[in-house]
Amino acid sequence: MISSPHTLEEYQTAADFIRKRTQHQPQVGLVLGSGLSLLAEGIASADFLAYDQIPHFPVSTVVGHAGRLVIGELAGLPVCAMQGRFHFYEGYSQAQVTFPIRVMHLLGIHTLILTNAAGGINPSFQVGNLMVIDDHINFMGLAGFNPLYGPNIDAFGSRFPSMTDVYSPALRALGDRVAAQQGEAVRHGVYGALSGPTFETPAEVRFLRAIGVDAVGMSTAPEATVARHAGMRVLGISTITNAAIDILNSNAETSHEEVLETGKAVVPRLMKLIMGVLAEIGKPSVD
Ligand code: HPA
Repeated sequence: MISSPHTLEEYQTAADFIRKRTQHQPQVGLVLGSGLSLLAEGIASADFLAYDQIPHFPVSTVVGHAGRLVIGELAGLPVCAMQGRFHFYEGYSQAQVTFPIRVMHLLGIHTLILTNAAGGINPSFQVGNLMVIDDHINFMGLAGFNPLYGPNIDAFGSRFPSMTDVYSPALRALGDRVAAQQGEAVRHGVYGALSGPTFETPAEVRFLRAIGVDAVGMSTAPEATVARHAGMRVLGISTITNAAIDILNSNAETSHEEVLETGKAVVPRLMKLIMGVLAEIGKPSVD
């Protein structure tokens, strides 16, 4: 079921509400995936806004997602972080899942960093790897649940937006440069976005591998699509929290606990990488 998309006024009401409650004027948005909420703890002079206070914001329900905006300074840049995101599998429409992204755009945010926990599909990936997202396959969108479904709001972008280079080539290259400086062997690949909440069957994992997916998860692609529609620059980073299971009778199971645990263990490295990227974004030469 697809509920009615939001109106421009609803996005504006939410943005106005946020603007009145913080002195910061965020330029970079951060979306923190499963087990990665701790990243927001490095944000200085932070203002916290619980999602349930903000007009028209959906409320997050999944364990491991705190459900608030953290607005403050990170690596000297004003940022707005989502501590917890909305997922299609929770029952939200795609318009609700991506509501905060358009609000961020209205707040003046020009660059969006999306993080997620993902299952490794590429056999050369190891648990704990960080993957810069080069492109995505949005299975939800391909199945008709595109976040831009419904009347187009021209104030955000065009009716038929291009999806070439959803993930900014400049930011992907920057991610590489910063990772190299830090001795982080960052991977690259295609993110497959499935609706969840089930993890994949072994046959689905083999199918995903065959069609060119490197890592699989239940988020990110809708947010990236809406951000790109609005002309924001997007950087996506997956943390490989588990190896997707591709054979029957293996006695192995993927669990949400495993995903959260690995996510937490990876936070310091992911944080370092994001801080490094932010520091570079803050330098006038990169923009
Ligand atoms: N599949 C789907 N989503 C995920 C996975 C996975 O293996 N790991 C973390 N999120």
